[in-house]
Amino acid sequence: MYELSKLYAAFEQYFGHPPTRIARAPGRVNLIGEHTDYNDGFVFPMALDRATYVAARPRNDQIVRVFSIKFRDEDQFDLQQIVRDERRQWVNYIRGVAKGLLARDLPLRGADLMIDSDVPAGSGLSSSAALEVAVGYTFQLLNNINLLGEELALVAQGAEHTFVGVKCGIMDQLIAALGEAGHALLIDCRDLSYRPVPIPAEARVVVCDSGVRHRLAGSEYNQRRAGCEEAVRLLKPALGKIQALRDVRSSDLATYGHLLPPDVLPLARHVVSENERTLAAAEALAAGDLVKMGQLMVASHVSLRDDYRVSVRELDTLVDLALAAPGCFGSRMTGGGFGGSTVSLVAADHVDAFVAVMVDGYAIRTGRKLQPLVCTAGAGVSCVYASEEE
Ligand code: GLA
Repeated sequence: MYELSKLYAAFEQYFGHPPTRIARAPGRVNLIGEHTDYNDGFVFPMALDRATYVAARPRNDQIVRVFSIKFRDEDQFDLQQIVRDERRQWVNYIRGVAKGLLARDLPLRGADLMIDSDVPAGSGLSSSAALEVAVGYTFQLLNNINLLGEELALVAQGAEHTFVGVKCGIMDQLIAALGEAGHALLIDCRDLSYRPVPIPAEARVVVCDSGVRHRLAGSEYNQRRAGCEEAVRLLKPALGKIQALRDVRSSDLATYGHLLPPDVLPLARHVVSENERTLAAAEALAAGDLVKMGQLMVASHVSLRDDYRVSVRELDTLVDLALAAPGCFGSRMTGGGFGGSTVSLVAADHVDAFVAVMVDGYAIRTGRKLQPLVCTAGAGVSCVYASEEE
């Protein structure tokens, strides 16, 4: 459990006055539906019970002062003139979100902000989306702005596109804003509608961080996205009114796949099949069919590994180990890939044995220490503290 009182005390000590609000936004794990969000497709993530926290107090000027406990670093900027910082990436998430709100003609006051998080960074659990959404929501609270969760998610995504430089989809920000305790959300990334599906009581979701993170992940990601856009451009003359790979079916690819270059066809094949798997997975989980759900997760991993080519050896090792471990229904890499984590669906009464086997197996196969997280589906962004004063 994160201790809010420590954040409160640290804020008071650093800024010389107490915070008036504390907001939190969760990290996420995606059960299935990978690299589908920027193709207008379907995703099926759940919010974690781990979050990024922002303690805040409004100021009477246009200055934003920020202290990050995790980075032991501070930032200061003027709301009238927000620019990217070329040296320090973490400050761009905050600056980008403030700029995005102002660009929507939402007037902001300056603020003192202190940020902390218990979402592991670099694990593929979207600590960055948690930061963006928590900061955006904090500005909402301090300035009495009402935004729908969907709008807040779009502002946060915009910050990532323009200030951070990754052309991410909407999944991470949307689940950070709208997550529901005890549920995964089947999200349609075209119209942002969603359906909560309860996680069955007899199942546990286990996240294993490979400990590997590739530096080129951002540029590889943007390349995959460009490949998907090229596929749509090349299929359009044959298929007519398609806007995104979401509009393409497996049968279309069987007929017109020859129109795509050999490096693009597998990308399209992954996205088209992953959308079909994601819809089937939400049905399976809703029906309590954990075996079926597990099979779809494994098929997703194979497709990400062989067709989309975003897995790495350590993630494949984790999936192999999981599938041989007690009580495992299915396992796959989760998030953008090129390192990060796997997600496994495990029988609740086998979860301790599963964790033990994973820790030993990973140490033997790679020499790395594994710290599996048994996750509970948490709620989306919220205010967790409000003082009497405005
Ligand atoms: C990253 C992005 C998401 C999504 C996943 C892959 O997490 O931020 O928008 O595209 O990769 O599914």
